[in-house]
Amino acid sequence: MAPLLEAKGIGKSFAEGGMEVPVLSDVDLSIGAGESLSITGASGAGKSTLLHILGTIENPSQGQVLYRKENVFDYSEEKLAEFRNQSLGFVFQFHHLLTEFNALENVMMPLMIRGEPAIQRQEKALRALEDVGLADKSSSLPGELSGGEQQRVAVARAIVTAPEILLADEPTGNLDRQTGEMLMDLLFRLNQDKQITIVYVTHNDSLAKRAQRTLHLQDGMIQ
Ligand SMILES: Nc1ncnc2c1ncn2[C@@H]1O[C@H](COP(=O)(O)OP(=O)(O)OP(=O)(O)O)[C@@H](O)[C@H]1O
Ligand SMILES: [Mg+2]
Repeated sequence: MAPLLEAKGIGKSFAEGGMEVPVLSDVDLSIGAGESLSITGASGAGKSTLLHILGTIENPSQGQVLYRKENVFDYSEEKLAEFRNQSLGFVFQFHHLLTEFNALENVMMPLMIRGEPAIQRQEKALRALEDVGLADKSSSLPGELSGGEQQRVAVARAIVTAPEILLADEPTGNLDRQTGEMLMDLLFRLNQDKQITIVYVTHNDSLAKRAQRTLHLQDGMIQ
């Protein structure tokens, strides 16, 4: 299968007190359209950093991220923004819902950024909330939802733009086991039904094993 998203020789270091502290070194990965990949590793191993680099919200110190064989860091600002907005969906480690906006408004946000007409925005956002089983909570504020429901709103927000690739950073991190498994059922349903490629970080080995492939990071390197 032709790779959809690849990382080649990714290195990342952060400057700390005048020293360069390496976080990732020489990370290679390749993922095809419709595949699922999990990333595991201890706290501080560089999982979020890798996901942020794959999602182009952080720059690598070395290496390339290729989308359909093109280095995304060679894109113009405009093309990069288009790639982020049209091809990627992101579920962050901490969901970052806007507390003063209700579930529907939070889910509509990426479509507003795209400049879609109001009616279309609303229809798509409602459909995404339906996909995550929360159509009845569309007018609830994040503070009126449980942690699991908030995380599902974050998933709805990530899929409302119909991304090709969903990057999820510990989407079940703050959920109990059963709610976590239901959230992963949802991600795999999206993977199966909509052929969304999913890359997710988890600390949970049994959730990691549900992916077609697992990548283990240790000291910033693939083990
Ligand atoms: N912006 C930053 N500036 C300096 N150091 C950073 C920055 N971001 C991450 N780091 C460091 O990089 C290392 C890896 O961080 P990262 O967040 O990728 O780990 P992680 O594997 O996601 O951990 P966790 O499981 O706790 O979420 C850590 O030591 C962290 O302190
Ligand atoms: Mg992390």
